Amino acid sequence: MAELKVGIIGCGGHAQGHFAMIKGESRMKLVAIAEIDEDRRNRAKAEHQPEFAFRDYREMLDKMDLDVVYVVTMPGHLLPIVLECLGRDVHTSVEKSPGMNVDETRQMLEAAHKSKGKAIVSVNRRYKPEVLAVRKLLQERGGAVQVAANYHKPPSGLIRPGRREVAPPEIVCDAIHHVDLLRWMAGRTPTEAANATEVYAHSWHGAREGTPRHNAIIAFDNGCHGTMMSHYGVGGRIQTSEVHAEDMSAYLDLTSTPKITLYLDGKLCEEPLDLDAVGGPGFNETRHFADCILNDTMPWSPLEEFVNTMELCEAIERGHQGKLVIA
Ligand SMILES: NC(=O)c1ccc[n+]([C@@H]2O[C@H](COP(=O)([O-])OP(=O)(O)OC[C@H]3O[C@@H](n4cnc5c(N)ncnc54)[C@H](O)[C@@H]3O)[C@@H](O)[C@H]2O)c1
Repeated sequence: MAELKVGIIGCGGHAQGHFAMIKGESRMKLVAIAEIDEDRRNRAKAEHQPEFAFRDYREMLDKMDLDVVYVVTMPGHLLPIVLECLGRDVHTSVEKSPGMNVDETRQMLEAAHKSKGKAIVSVNRRYKPEVLAVRKLLQERGGAVQVAANYHKPPSGLIRPGRREVAPPEIVCDAIHHVDLLRWMAGRTPTEAANATEVYAHSWHGAREGTPRHNAIIAFDNGCHGTMMSHYGVGGRIQTSEVHAEDMSAYLDLTSTPKITLYLDGKLCEEPLDLDAVGGPGFNETRHFADCILNDTMPWSPLEEFVNTMELCEAIERGHQGKLVIA
């Protein structure tokens, strides 16, 4: 049944989620991994049983006729690897953030434009069935009027010593998930996100290392407005969103298993969300990427989109005030 031969580059913590999603996707087969760290490479080979394991990802690309590669390294290591994969016309999944800054995202986009391979940025929030079901309801009611997102973490040293040089600031590296979620929830069509046109942001740093705080008000090109709050020195991991349309409100707790509270026409809605209408409870970014490759369609989170999301993250980081023009 598997039609797509898959390789993974970078077998650290987050790759484990990709291994699980690839295993759950019958149209994909993991055939090779590349990891520079010997222990991690051996562990991934033993646990996930690819046919081949390489130290050098170029050797993997030379020797294996791969259809799809997942690049799951830290942002500072992504650019040369992504350019190499796209340069060889391989379908490429790029981890977030797609590079250290928007200039790197643009370089990846340029390579994607020249490539026969498709590129997807692996942002799982866009593909959560509960998010898609709420989004569908919003669009049926004329689209979101206001969207809000919170993305907080305790001071766990997200960007640990030794990693700072391969990770952009927290709002770009990590809270990008909910900056992008704002754009996605504000989008008025099933496949499009809204673009920010104005941003009023305040960003500052706490006394402790690695505890930045951000607040932003955002206007979107379709009339929707958003607010974003992020703080890396709070009491716990909190990842929530709140969206409002005419006669509709939804509160999304995405901290772990999604919990959705929905109000329609002034009443709490007790009925479960219709997840089957948006691909079913097992839908995820891996299934979507397989669909896009096999049906020759555009992923919902292409690099084009992430030039916009990265610009917005960087605007919040620098405390931008006023119109946001994205070339
Ligand atoms: N979507 C999410 O929810 C989510 C969650 C956590 C992390 N991430 C992202 O996933 C990425 C990886 O994070 P992580 O925590 O797994 O990091 P990690 O450091 O645990 O893993 C990265 C791995 O890449 C390997 N690597 C680096 N350069 C390589 C190369 N040239 N060839 C082969 N292997 C190479 C490293 O040895 C390491 O094992 C980051 O970009 C991070 O932002 C996403």
